[in-house]
Amino acid sequence: MPDAPAVPAAGLLDALRALLGPRGLLTDPADLAPHLADWRGLYRGAAPCVLRPASTAELAACVRLCAEAGVAMVPQGGNTSMVGGATPDESGRQVVVSLARMNRIRDLDPVDMTMTAEAGVVLKAAQDAAAAAGCLFPLSLGAEGTATIGGVLSTNAGGNTTVRYGNARELMLGLEAVLPDGQVWNGLRRLRKDNTGYALRHLLVGAEGTLGIITAAVLRLFPRPRETEVAFCAVRDEDAALALFRRFRDRDESAVRAFEYMSGTGVDLAVRHIEGVAHPLATRAAHYALVDLASSRPDAGLRRLMEDVLEAALEAGEVLDAAIGGSEAQRAALWRIREEHPEAQKREGASVKNDVSVPVSRVPELIRRCSAALAALVPGSRPVPFGHMGDGNIHMNLVQPEGMDPAAFLARSDAIMDAVNAVVRDLDGSFSAEHGIGRLKTDMMEAWRGGAELDLMRRIKAAVDPRGVMNPGKVLP
Ligand code: FAD
Ligand code: MLT
Ligand code: ZN
Repeated sequence: MPDAPAVPAAGLLDALRALLGPRGLLTDPADLAPHLADWRGLYRGAAPCVLRPASTAELAACVRLCAEAGVAMVPQGGNTSMVGGATPDESGRQVVVSLARMNRIRDLDPVDMTMTAEAGVVLKAAQDAAAAAGCLFPLSLGAEGTATIGGVLSTNAGGNTTVRYGNARELMLGLEAVLPDGQVWNGLRRLRKDNTGYALRHLLVGAEGTLGIITAAVLRLFPRPRETEVAFCAVRDEDAALALFRRFRDRDESAVRAFEYMSGTGVDLAVRHIEGVAHPLATRAAHYALVDLASSRPDAGLRRLMEDVLEAALEAGEVLDAAIGGSEAQRAALWRIREEHPEAQKREGASVKNDVSVPVSRVPELIRRCSAALAALVPGSRPVPFGHMGDGNIHMNLVQPEGMDPAAFLARSDAIMDAVNAVVRDLDGSFSAEHGIGRLKTDMMEAWRGGAELDLMRRIKAAVDPRGVMNPGKVLP
């Protein structure tokens, strides 16, 4: 076991200040505050400073200094982690390393279909840069206006388009990173084929900042869509939602860009709490699906495909009603109902999130069994299952009973997560589908990944970060 992390000494802070200048080292409590708490409000840490290097060389020098002093570092991108991965602990011994100033797009090549972006580039800015060059960077999630390229790679984020383009990992060809001892590893290769030993880039992706700090990445681009269609559908039940997904997939798998499930409770919360979100259908239902079709072909005939499939599903009684977006603005409005689910639940009070996955075929059973178990466990609570049905990833969230003390509800978090996880285990699923482990789920690792798997993870961590200075207390128990 490495020694406990050291307290940053005044001499170290002076050296870091001399290296980074006043913009690069924050110590004022008001400047530190946004870096110390997580988006969900679960954790509030302490740190003597936030480091904001402007280049890989500056970052490497900082890491070298901290590592030599045995001071722990917490890499931070947009700080939108759902599992407390980017917040320091309460000891005041850990320094936060923000990538915010490393936000250049170094290169964009429409022939290679690649973009080389620094870690602090905000996801939306990467999407916009690709679009300006007539291409698509397809990763898309609700936090895309804040989350960064370094963050989405370090969590192997999924989001709305995984069903078509894969997770962040599948969108990355090469990486540059600063290792825990301050060495720079330049693996920024833009090759589609490169079998030259261990695929180190894949070790860093999904490592949640525990094996080094990603500084830049080569990302894959795709042809931009020339036709898109979006439909918001009221469906009979969970099985009907899955049947609808299969209808689209059978008809033209390549056209399905996203297939999302929402419950009536979740849609009602979005309409109630989010200004500008309106219910698009006259009838209210208990279950909904959002279908997004896209093609780079200008003559793909997606409207016809959408109408044909919906008509067949209506006749079969699977779809009860549907609204197809007739313009870019209408399609965006339909998507907003889904995208605002996390914010709407936050405004409703306390909620417990369960980001779980099961084989796609078992999603209806997952939703039904978990909803029943949770409603029985906390009477009056409101199960709000929603998310990426096409990937088998449902956010099996539970919103507190109206009027209940939020703290009393959150005190039951462990029991709530255990109830969901019991069903997930029975259905051969995972207790963390896309948000990662962070700090929130470390104590589940032994039960789910214990034995050879966790042992190997620990040995990798010890080999890459023997002093234990990279994001300690995250991922590994
Ligand atoms: P941070 O929160 O800053 O960090 C996340 C983790 O990565 C931490 O462990 C941190 O230490 C590490 N890290 C950050 N940058 C680096 C770096 N450069 N090098 C090494 N380690 C680093 N996630 C999904 O997968 N799918 C979704 O659909 C989704 N929707 C969301 C919707 C909302 C409204 C919110 C608030 C969050 C959502 N998330 C989703 C979770 C979150 O946005 C993702 O995990 C995202 O990848 C985090 O990016 P970030 O830049 O904010 O990273
Ligand atoms: C989303 O898909 O909107 C987030 O990953 C889910 C959440 O808030 O649990
Ligand atoms: Zn999600």
